[in-house]
Amino acid sequence: MERLPGFRDFYPEPLPANEPWSCDLRNHIFARWRETARRYGFREYDGPPLEPLELYTNKSGAEIVAQLFNFVDKGERAVSLRPEMTPTVARMVATAERAYKKPIKWFSFPQLFRYEKPQKGRLREHFQLNCDLFGEADPGADAEIVALLIDVLRSLGLTSEDFVIRLSSRQAWQRFFAARGGDPARAYEFYQVVDKIERERPEVSAEKLQALGVSLTDVQEFIRASVPEPELQVVLDNLGARGLGAFVAVDYGVIRGLAYYTGIVFEAFDRKGKFRAIAGGGRYDQLVHQVSEGKVNLPALGFGMGDVVLAELLKERNLVPSFAGAVEVVVLIEDETLRADSLRLVQQVREAGTAVEFTLVATKGDKQFKRALELGARQTLRVERSAEGTVAVRIKNLRTREEQVVPFDQVIAALAGAA
Ligand code: HAM
Repeated sequence: MERLPGFRDFYPEPLPANEPWSCDLRNHIFARWRETARRYGFREYDGPPLEPLELYTNKSGAEIVAQLFNFVDKGERAVSLRPEMTPTVARMVATAERAYKKPIKWFSFPQLFRYEKPQKGRLREHFQLNCDLFGEADPGADAEIVALLIDVLRSLGLTSEDFVIRLSSRQAWQRFFAARGGDPARAYEFYQVVDKIERERPEVSAEKLQALGVSLTDVQEFIRASVPEPELQVVLDNLGARGLGAFVAVDYGVIRGLAYYTGIVFEAFDRKGKFRAIAGGGRYDQLVHQVSEGKVNLPALGFGMGDVVLAELLKERNLVPSFAGAVEVVVLIEDETLRADSLRLVQQVREAGTAVEFTLVATKGDKQFKRALELGARQTLRVERSAEGTVAVRIKNLRTREEQVVPFDQVIAALAGAA
């Protein structure tokens, strides 16, 4: 039985041949995500992996809806696995915002599902860090979110030479479109054409734009100039004051594909342009209102960062640490008559918080010792019986090869002293 296309198995390291996804690397990424969100005062939340289909059909935009893993459940409900977290968090905030002080700053890293064509950087499931802020309309909040995005990437060892945040503004594009007599009802259609310009053949984009009353050269010139609009200048100045100016550049080539964005939008890319977007986000001031059917109105913004492109980039830049085994101590059992005492020792050392391995069945002593070395253990312990019949423990430091014999009840203290 093979796994489904676009899905991953996560193995512990060292990885088997042809299995690129490591659970150790995943945990490393998750730890940095969680730690950086904490430093910015974000609280963790989660939601259901399965949602009513309707949550996505009119809020997320055509591209995501075409990629839904949706079905009718046994209760005749139209449901979908979550393709993104934003509608869920908007619903959760709309339901419970009264219980929280504003601004609400929340993060999560859900596993998301999109029926895409599996390719480099795109799978049918991924984990996505979501950091979102609710209840603040000032661009200072946009700067805070972008700073967090930058620091998440920096926490993994990436620098301003590795990545850049391309900053843009849907309002800037809205004004561009309006100034050329564009039909406001077709603005989203226009944004979608701009969103695809970098990947689409120029003739195709030109034709689609013409149908909307805009010329491709006009659009290209606006992107090339990328003159910061006032709301973007505020964000640039704010990030500059934090010493993060080198990580951002205004680039109207970014507009984002999702339907709900209303203001500043951005995407993180590797500087060499080799990979797909590492992260993307922006302001979506109407979504809470829409999801709550007009009951709650809160400005909102945030970003999503997937683990797939990120892991590819970290590997390429040699920023994946080596994941040594977690075993600290190996208890050697060379004399089976000492197994009961050895088990007592194993239990005692584990209860003190140390990772302990030992042989489950009678095994040759040299084999056990070799295994301790392979596991990268710090020490071996061996229960010894004296001529008088009392038991003691021989501790061997595998780095220095020094040995000491301590009474059974002093092992924990001796290990703490030696660590
Ligand atoms: P998105 O641009 O669709 O935005 O996804 C954000 C990031 O998730 C992408 O830049 C990429 O790293 C990763 N990603 C998306 N789809 C896949 C896939 N099929 N395979 C691997 N990685 C993928 C959103 O989802 C927004 N809801 C983000 C957001 C949060 N905006 C505001 N708050």
